[in-house]
Amino acid sequence: MARGCGMKMKISKTVYINTMGCQMNVVDTEQIEKILSTIGYERTLSLDTADLIIANTCAIREKAQQKAFSFLGRLAGLKKRKAGLIVSIGGCVAQQEGERILKRMPYVDLVFGTDAICRLPEMVQQIEVEKCRVIDVETTTSVNEFENGIALHNHREAAKFVTIMQGCDNYCTYCVVPYVRGREKSRASGKIIKEIRELAKSGVREVTLLGQNVNSYGKKEGLCTFAELLRQVNEIEGILRIRFTTSHPKDLSDDLIGAFHSVEKLCDHVHLPIQSGSNAVLKRMNRKYTREEYLTKVDRLRQACPGIAISSDIIVGFPGETEDDFLDTLDLIKLAGYNSLFTFNYSDRPNAPAAAFPNKVHPAEQKARLQSVLSLQESITTQKNSELVGSTAQILVEGKSKKQRLNDVNPNGQAIQWSGRTSTNKVVNFIRNDHEGPGDELLPGKLVHVEIEKALAHSLWGKLVEAEPFGLKGKKYYAA
Ligand code: 5AD
Ligand code: SF4
Repeated sequence: MARGCGMKMKISKTVYINTMGCQMNVVDTEQIEKILSTIGYERTLSLDTADLIIANTCAIREKAQQKAFSFLGRLAGLKKRKAGLIVSIGGCVAQQEGERILKRMPYVDLVFGTDAICRLPEMVQQIEVEKCRVIDVETTTSVNEFENGIALHNHREAAKFVTIMQGCDNYCTYCVVPYVRGREKSRASGKIIKEIRELAKSGVREVTLLGQNVNSYGKKEGLCTFAELLRQVNEIEGILRIRFTTSHPKDLSDDLIGAFHSVEKLCDHVHLPIQSGSNAVLKRMNRKYTREEYLTKVDRLRQACPGIAISSDIIVGFPGETEDDFLDTLDLIKLAGYNSLFTFNYSDRPNAPAAAFPNKVHPAEQKARLQSVLSLQESITTQKNSELVGSTAQILVEGKSKKQRLNDVNPNGQAIQWSGRTSTNKVVNFIRNDHEGPGDELLPGKLVHVEIEKALAHSLWGKLVEAEPFGLKGKKYYAA
């Protein structure tokens, strides 16, 4: 079989990849797709006709893991009906469960861990030839390196994730990540910059720098600081916006806070997971900050960048969380004035110390607390969104909106609903009903101005007022 040498391979086989979980898995899936193309696999959206099926799984919460197993369960019948089908599981559940999956699911041919993606071609070919079962959950201390940029040339998406580090050393007591993604390891800044330059050349306009704790980027390896990396990315021609996720509050340095003021392309949004508003719970979670320290950082961020949007993660029902602890969380949510929130019911995870903590909160109580958080945040978000009606927002167009609303199609039937994000990470859908400026096909990847006409719970709607060609207008001047 011809490989490498830049030769285009004849595509003969297809792979269906079900990506579950976080952005790390989204990036891993892109890498899986790229590396499997070297042995002739093309991505398909048809489960029934695929030659190879991969479940790229997430283990962060119990529910995510159940979802992975229920997807795999559905494949047992398919495997029986289709000779030669290869069923495979990758990602965090594969890393965590390893051998147990082969024992429990006789129809699974391949189990590969989070560090084994680079060895996929050999493993798949071995299964094709020998009809055997293979497992590889080896971990490594070095970072997985893939030249994403080249693979992504075909996609022409406006916004992309770029992994800058993997793993985590924080050991929050509820979290499985250090056990399934390994120790923290950062990529060399030169490689990151090279990859982003390639992405920019291929039409990508926004990059989100990805890691479990980006603020501690390069510390271990003695590389540049994360704020310095942001300044380097800011210099890359063609890139219009920079985002990053996730930041651990304890490592949010003054230098990084200052970057929201001084790094022109850095978007006005930070995801800063608090997890709980109770100091007692934060201590048991091993988060290494207090609510007071957290709120001081929120104030500093708002001083550096007055319009900054802040989002967060909250876990409700952590073992031993009392009613008063929970009230502290509600209070903190109000004080922080989050723009959006991701909320989770605590669940025990294998290896995570909190699984052995006493005083588990009853599921019914957890459910009620989750509901209280959701409705509080919904009222805050609705209020914040409604304040934006009538303002003009600069958005980066990502593509057509998901929900095409028939009523909004203009009389000529030519309007298309587009979707993009503000610098503050709000989704704005808009109708293009003029015929000036760039052609519709050129809209994705453009910064445009949209007048906000309507605020819904999770998105904003507006109309295009100016489609400008490439170029950053001073980022601080747009209300949304
Ligand atoms: N139970 C519930 N939520 C969890 N998270 C991580 N581990 C758990 C767990 N065991 C949440 C945290 C984290 C987000 C990605 O998932 O809020 O920030
Ligand atoms: Fe998990 Fe804590 Fe690391 Fe985040 S910082 S990945 S919650 S251990």
